[in-house]
Amino acid sequence: MKDLKPQIVRSFRMEMIGTGCYGELAKQYGKRLPELSEKFRNFSEHERTHGKLLAKCHSDLYGSDIQGEHFWLFIGKVSAFLQYFLPLKVKLKILSGVEMLAVQEIERALADGTESSFHKVISDILPDEKEHAGFYDEWCAVR
Ligand SMILES: [Fe+2]
Ligand SMILES: [Fe+2]
Repeated sequence: MKDLKPQIVRSFRMEMIGTGCYGELAKQYGKRLPELSEKFRNFSEHERTHGKLLAKCHSDLYGSDIQGEHFWLFIGKVSAFLQYFLPLKVKLKILSGVEMLAVQEIERALADGTESSFHKVISDILPDEKEHAGFYDEWCAVR
């Protein structure tokens, strides 16, 4: 079986970026759009949980922790700052696009039928990523 380590580390980083980005967006919209802010908070918690599952998978397989959690959380926050002046719908479109890529990547990884603790984790997190990917449409449908 192909070495999973780089894939686990990469996925962990993306989850930390997501945690930081959604967490920052939740703060930015806390007063203006509390309902949306709650959604972002919820997504941030999903990504944090995904990150924890991947970190556990890594330490079970390789006996070591993944480094750089705070750095990647920070990068996620920065990405939310960089989008600050964009219209909300554009932000949601970008986020949905990134999440759609995540969904495709997971589906591709699962399609080869490999069984591992990493594959178990990504199949468990897939429904959340689908929810995140669909949020742009969900938000626009009622507005
Ligand atoms: Fe995630
Ligand atoms: Fe996600």
